[in-house]
Amino acid sequence: MLIALLPGDGIGPEVVEQAVRVLNVVTDKLTYETAPVGGAAYKAQGHPLPAATLDLAKRADAILFGAVGDPDCDKLERHLRPEQAILGLRKELALFANLRPAKLFPELADASALRPEVATQIDMVIVRELNGDVYFGEKGMRTTAAGLREGYDIMSYDEGEVRRIARVGFETAQARNGKLCSVDKANVLETSQLWRDVVIEMSADFPDVELSHMYVDNCAMQLVRNPGQFDVIVTGNLFGDILSDQASMCAGSIGMLPSASLDDKQKGLYEPIHGSAPDIAGHGKANPLATILSAAMMLRYSLGLPDEADRIEAAVAKALAGGARSPDLGGTMTTAQMGDAVLAVL
Ligand code: NAD
Ligand code: IPM
Ligand code: MN
Repeated sequence: MLIALLPGDGIGPEVVEQAVRVLNVVTDKLTYETAPVGGAAYKAQGHPLPAATLDLAKRADAILFGAVGDPDCDKLERHLRPEQAILGLRKELALFANLRPAKLFPELADASALRPEVATQIDMVIVRELNGDVYFGEKGMRTTAAGLREGYDIMSYDEGEVRRIARVGFETAQARNGKLCSVDKANVLETSQLWRDVVIEMSADFPDVELSHMYVDNCAMQLVRNPGQFDVIVTGNLFGDILSDQASMCAGSIGMLPSASLDDKQKGLYEPIHGSAPDIAGHGKANPLATILSAAMMLRYSLGLPDEADRIEAAVAKALAGGARSPDLGGTMTTAQMGDAVLAVL
């Protein structure tokens, strides 16, 4: 099976390298092709998502992605910025369903920003819509009648978009503990009112799922007050982006949370939820476990290798139990040493 490796910028290549080492120990069924993406691709080829990179992503059986983002590129026109590469891949490949599991490895209770007895309760999946919302609406800069600069980004969802992600939310809940919390801002936004109405309509088809609704501001608070109350959250693109970074700190570190971005046929892009971390790039300080766990999700969801996925996840748990700690987890191990620790268990 062909894996497209898109390491990207900053710590992206550092963490992807460790994930590939781990994959090679658990299976010999994969071949890899690497292509530039993000700021690296812009600098080499003048575009953050070159046609050949997109073509590789389409040809591959699955994509393992590092991160994109480069402070040198922040002043470029928006369509040339590194972030457009990941947005373009999500859109071009119709990867509308982003699964972001947040679970605390018990060994990391001391690394969470929460008290251990609160933190250990977290075991949830955020189902984030990835192809719509304010991310993909009309946007621009204009001048108001009073001569002021004005930026705008249109937020919208149509009912079809809500239905297809809500279905993933309900089905994810069915496969877990049967609880779905739909997060919106229906008290203010029409987009969210439609979202809530559609989710309620669909709930008739899922009588075995206990559905609740929560405003996003309350959800942000509940995530740190009592994260154990959540099983599955389904939410829009922007709210899901923000809430998943927050959930990561309940689970120990942003360096721990993997993700799968899926189309409707289980084709997927797998990446850590974090970015290119320019502040630590090149120093060997990045925690590679989020990417290693993303590789495990890739084996499970897109490649039909669940036993190998289990082996990786168990090895990560054992490495943590054995004391593997990068700086974000309060330790001193380098990126490569964290990889070594997982390999040693395997
Ligand atoms: P970030 O996630 O890159 O970093 C936030 C903080 O978390 C930093 O202090 C960083 O050092 C730390 N951190 C992140 N990953 C870590 C890891 N694996 N191990 C240890 N510490 C880690 O977010 P940011 O600083 O807001 O963004 C930096 C760049 O990354 C921006 O250009 C942004 O657009 C981009 N970004 C890309 C993606 C993606 O490619 N999917 C995701 C998020 C941000
Ligand atoms: C993420 C990132 C991206 C997002 C950016 C880089 C476009 O924050 O993958 O979480 O906002 O979706
Ligand atoms: Mn994000």
